[in-house]
Amino acid sequence: MPTTFIWYGHATCALVVDGKHVVVDPFFRENAQASIDMDDVPADYILVSHGHWDHSGDVEPIAQRTGALIIANDEIARYYAAKGFKTHGQHIGGGYKHPFGYLKLTQAAHGSGFPDGFPGGTASGFLLTTPEGKKVYLGCDTGLFGDMALIGDEGVDFAALPIGDNFTMGPDDALKAVKLLRPKRVMPYHYSTWNVIKQDEKAWVERVNAETDADAFVMQPGDTLEI
Ligand code: NI
Ligand code: MN
Repeated sequence: MPTTFIWYGHATCALVVDGKHVVVDPFFRENAQASIDMDDVPADYILVSHGHWDHSGDVEPIAQRTGALIIANDEIARYYAAKGFKTHGQHIGGGYKHPFGYLKLTQAAHGSGFPDGFPGGTASGFLLTTPEGKKVYLGCDTGLFGDMALIGDEGVDFAALPIGDNFTMGPDDALKAVKLLRPKRVMPYHYSTWNVIKQDEKAWVERVNAETDADAFVMQPGDTLEI
């Protein structure tokens, strides 16, 4: 069964692998882009890239309701384990074969503090090799870094990259990121949720399609994509 990617809006998304839902950076209740109510989100696993509220804000209620396994860097995993949740800790550069595929935590140039002041270790991105052998790279919150070229060497089939600027890469750096990552397909996310990260996503997609070999496209919150 092919893997399906769902974009819920902002940086919140899910991968559906063999009927299991892997939710990434759940942020629904205060997310004006959210395409679904938090209480309706199916979750078997929850990936948390870093502690910022727009990525971790709805981890606990969803994990409480679903019993999903929380997967994150070791500091974040211990933070949730101490609250009684099921967790699996990994760390940057480390991969693990989960039932939904081989998940590696990748470097991200970003902070990771939780709203309550807990430091949250080091922010990460995610590189998932699906059971069918497709590679999905979720940049999550990050600035541009040259070692994206090493991630690109793995052969990325689909990438989601932040273009919002201010907190993450903006459009110019995200275009450079595409040149380093060389994904077959790429979509922008983490933009226009608030005025401070307002961007013209269509203009960015046009530039990527003109200047790289990647197939870039805009998704709408709630849209799904077969990987
Ligand atoms: Ni952040
Ligand atoms: Mn963010």
